[in-house]
Amino acid sequence: MKPKIINLNKINDQRGNLSFIESDKHIPFKIKRSILIYDVPGGQERGGHAYKKLQEFIIALSGSFDVVLDDGLKKRNFTLSRSYYGLYVPKMMWRSMNNFSTNALCLILASKPYDDKDYIRDYNDYLKER
Ligand code: TYD
Repeated sequence: MKPKIINLNKINDQRGNLSFIESDKHIPFKIKRSILIYDVPGGQERGGHAYKKLQEFIIALSGSFDVVLDDGLKKRNFTLSRSYYGLYVPKMMWRSMNNFSTNALCLILASKPYDDKDYIRDYNDYLKER
């Protein structure tokens, strides 16, 4: 699978809009874990690493930030800024996040529980495994 922006259903409503995500239906994996990233100081970068097996779906619940994906050959930048779409990140992508706005709130839905052994933290190791 390739990285891609997935647009969520959006139920427009005068009472407030609504979007939803079901495992294996709107995103291509079962959700085993949710991660929140918030209170990111200006200029900070997070998440410079790859996962051997983990797949993710990343949403900007408020504010905005950039996700940079690097497959070892080329880098692509995705700006996330709305709640009704997100970025699907397959396993074995080098990914980092930066350019967080003030009050940015990032939700990451993940396909596996936390496992430190699933991380590749060294870029050269990543290139070798690729
Ligand atoms: P890490 O994934 O390295 O953060 P980032 O991707 O932003 O660089 O996680 C930072 C710390 O949080 C690390 O020490 C492990 C811990 N952590 C958990 O305990 N459970 C989790 O699900 C995650 C994502 C991190």
